[in-house]
Amino acid sequence: MPEASANIGVVGLAVMGSNLARNLASREGNTVAIFNRSYEKTETLLSEHPEAEFVPASTYQEFADSLQKPRTAIIMVKAGRPTDAVIDSLVEVFEPGDIIVDGGNAYFPDTIRREKAVRETGINFVGAGISGGEEGALLGPSIMPGGSDESWITLGPILKSIAAIAEGEPCVTHVGHDGAGHFVKMVHNGIEYADMQLIAEAYDLIRRGTDKTPAEIAEIFAEWNTGELESYLIEITAEVLRQVDAETGKPLVDVIVDQAGAKGTGAWTVQTALSLGVPVSGIAEATFARSLSSHPEQREVAASLPGPGETFTVADEAAFIEDVRQALYASKIVAYSQGFDEIRAGAAEYDWTIDLGAISKIWRAGCIIRAQFLNRIADAYAETPDLPVLMTAPYFAEALTRGQASWRRVVIAAAQAGIPAPAFSSSLSYYDGIRADRLPAALVQGQRDFFGAHTYKRIDKDGTFHTLWSVDRTEIEAEDTH
Ligand SMILES: NC(=O)c1ccc[n+]([C@@H]2O[C@H](COP(=O)([O-])OP(=O)(O)OC[C@H]3O[C@@H](n4cnc5c(N)ncnc54)[C@H](OP(=O)(O)O)[C@@H]3O)[C@@H](O)[C@H]2O)c1
Repeated sequence: MPEASANIGVVGLAVMGSNLARNLASREGNTVAIFNRSYEKTETLLSEHPEAEFVPASTYQEFADSLQKPRTAIIMVKAGRPTDAVIDSLVEVFEPGDIIVDGGNAYFPDTIRREKAVRETGINFVGAGISGGEEGALLGPSIMPGGSDESWITLGPILKSIAAIAEGEPCVTHVGHDGAGHFVKMVHNGIEYADMQLIAEAYDLIRRGTDKTPAEIAEIFAEWNTGELESYLIEITAEVLRQVDAETGKPLVDVIVDQAGAKGTGAWTVQTALSLGVPVSGIAEATFARSLSSHPEQREVAASLPGPGETFTVADEAAFIEDVRQALYASKIVAYSQGFDEIRAGAAEYDWTIDLGAISKIWRAGCIIRAQFLNRIADAYAETPDLPVLMTAPYFAEALTRGQASWRRVVIAAAQAGIPAPAFSSSLSYYDGIRADRLPAALVQGQRDFFGAHTYKRIDKDGTFHTLWSVDRTEIEAEDTH
């Protein structure tokens, strides 16, 4: 039996797992047990990184024996059935009090189910969202763990040692119980979809409204990255636009097929929001925009449909570009406001206590949506922890007030020019909807009552009412069915 010399283990040594194992091994005091279903990946990791303090295992039993108690293992395998298979194998060799962490991209209802099942064995199960891709896993990701308070005692210091650091604080917090961590990671990814789509729309409008080349637009994004839009996604956008295809000499962005892929977390965010009744329209439009792009057969047929028939020319390029920047910032505020609404609604539905300010802080570094902007969200929740609408916080309200004329001009320009800007325009509609004094929902209620006797409430008295629509006598129009 091997000596129990490791304080943490990693199961699954593909790109994410091996980088996470290397990150763990690089931190003072960690010795890392490693296991992969097929032993070749374990051998490769050992031979490529002889400097790391790894304890390799070729069976689950050996892996368990090499871990100090309480045993703590992070699973980094394909989400879905492979994760269930690994959990089952670990449960067989672990003991009560040990901790199994799923660091993969699990769907949060699966995490709730797994936590419940594993808890019955006395073993702790923690679903932890890990963001930052392969580089983040190696150098410091943003980590969103759920699970029990008991597991956080052991796990907290280990995760803090490998997480990204933002302004001196590790980007990890105990998000909440059972599936809370994976829920928050899911919404993170949804916001990421919205952020990326908004940036893509900004690029498209500038490209089609001005004579600028991708390389010139890259400079605009690089400039934006020095201001309030400063973020990883803006930074990499400039890099992508600067890239020239070695084979053709063209901008690489012009050579890439315009069909965006998705691994499903955007769709989960939207599906969950629909069930919770939270309008995350920016995230939904971003997700649908990827779907629309990925139907070449429909796009080919629909290409015969007419557009406005005019060439899109911008009179004042500098003013237009500034309008687009303002529209991007305003729409981004909406996307985050909607995302945080979904987290709040999820916490209420699943009985999690989630500190929204803490979530914005752990997204400041390590993850894909990392940005200066998140400090402003943290400030807003520090000021008013139960803020009902994030974008009404003074800083954001001021930015929206300042940007709204530009935002409206950009949406009008896009519509007139026939340029799709679904995330820009739906964000603006959301903004106008949520701030509206009165919505046409009253008419919808009337229609619902007409065909389905769904009843309605009145503005002038309590109760629930139904109108006898087919009776042509106004005096008996309403009936109190209360
Ligand atoms: N890639 C990213 O940027 C990223 C970012 C955040 C989160 N994640 C999540 O992190 C996890 C790992 O991602 P990845 O890209 O490194 O790997 P992956 O391609 O998703 O999965 C490959 C790993 O899963 C193992 N595996 C597959 N089926 C298995 C089974 N039935 N039993 C045991 N092991 C099994 C493979 O073992 P074998 O070598 O034996 O086949 C291999 O170690 C995933 O959940 C992913 O969604 C990825």
